[in-house]
Amino acid sequence: MGRKKLVMVPGPTNVPDSVMQAMIKPMISHRGPEFRALYESLTESMKYLFQTDGDVYVLTVSGTGGVECVVGNTVNPGDKVLIPVFGLFSERLREAVVRRGGRPVELALRWGAAPTSDQIREVLEKEKNVKALAVVYNETSTGVTVRDLPEIGEIAKENDLLFIVDAVSILGGDELPVDKWGVDICVTASQKCIACPPGLALFSVSSKAWETIEKTRRPFYFDMVKMREFSERKETPFTPAVPLFFALDEALRIIREEGLEERFKRHKLCAQAFYDAVEALGLPVFPDREFRSNTVIAFKKSANINVGQVRRIMNEKYDVTVSGGAGKLRENMFRIGCMGVISETETLLTINALENALAEIGYRFERGAGLEAARRRFHS
Ligand SMILES: Cc1ncc(COP(=O)(O)O)c(C=O)c1O
Repeated sequence: MGRKKLVMVPGPTNVPDSVMQAMIKPMISHRGPEFRALYESLTESMKYLFQTDGDVYVLTVSGTGGVECVVGNTVNPGDKVLIPVFGLFSERLREAVVRRGGRPVELALRWGAAPTSDQIREVLEKEKNVKALAVVYNETSTGVTVRDLPEIGEIAKENDLLFIVDAVSILGGDELPVDKWGVDICVTASQKCIACPPGLALFSVSSKAWETIEKTRRPFYFDMVKMREFSERKETPFTPAVPLFFALDEALRIIREEGLEERFKRHKLCAQAFYDAVEALGLPVFPDREFRSNTVIAFKKSANINVGQVRRIMNEKYDVTVSGGAGKLRENMFRIGCMGVISETETLLTINALENALAEIGYRFERGAGLEAARRRFHS
């Protein structure tokens, strides 16, 4: 404990010092003028982040709490929700709908693939009375991004479906203009591409979504209508995690200062450098090429690699923390977060630690090949 790690897992991520320091500001009342000013600033910045003129909210919960809140405010028992399932987090989304009494219409896909607009269209031709379409935009368990999301949004609109997007591991790291792509409710979390500590979920709500929410039998604590009422006086219905709100305000200020376009470009460049490097090391990238994520880098091990051992060496000896696989892929895969505080520096430090650890366990590869491939990407 105590040594600063380079946290390269797919959330939580490295957090800028100014964001950490924002949390030790003196406490304020969540019913006073200082909080209302903070709330106003957060609202303005979140509208920028989500690229929306709709409503935006912050909840004191992790991403799963945000997903549960969204489902609880839109799904009544018996409602049909179309959900592509292609990894652990889309399985969880389906489970949240089931627990709520909804009826998931599952589009089951191979892990490593992403749903396409044609596949969604095909399901809707057969299935009647579907109320909503819920998509995990970036499957963190497989490193897959749904590149057809704008077209899928069009289909939702044509079929008058509520379009719900879990963007927990991507918003702020890749393109997602919520209004332009017709997303009715988009949910994300603080600890990923926003580079803030964990503990907050953020979401946007369109006017179409409000029509559904108003007619839903809503939970007590997670009642979005109550959130809307309190937002008129720039407050939250219940006591928020004020220090995290301070941190989020600073994290969003940094995002606005950089600009979304620049931020997306930076994530993409670092992701490409990671992909070049792991391929140069002879490690197969997990997702299909066209679905590769710019925020989660997932790749398989070669036969004689012990994933846990490599991760341990990277963490203990080189202070670089990366993840193994999620769910059924735990022992077979590595996952690296390419989120938030990510540049050539973090990318090369991570690849260097990976190469060193691989060499130490006796994996045969050309030393330096990963670093060289990444360096070429940054300097071509
Ligand atoms: C796509 C996706 N959805 C939901 C979650 C759940 O978020 P949390 O762990 O903050 O509850 C995660 C977490 O990694 C995620 O990647």
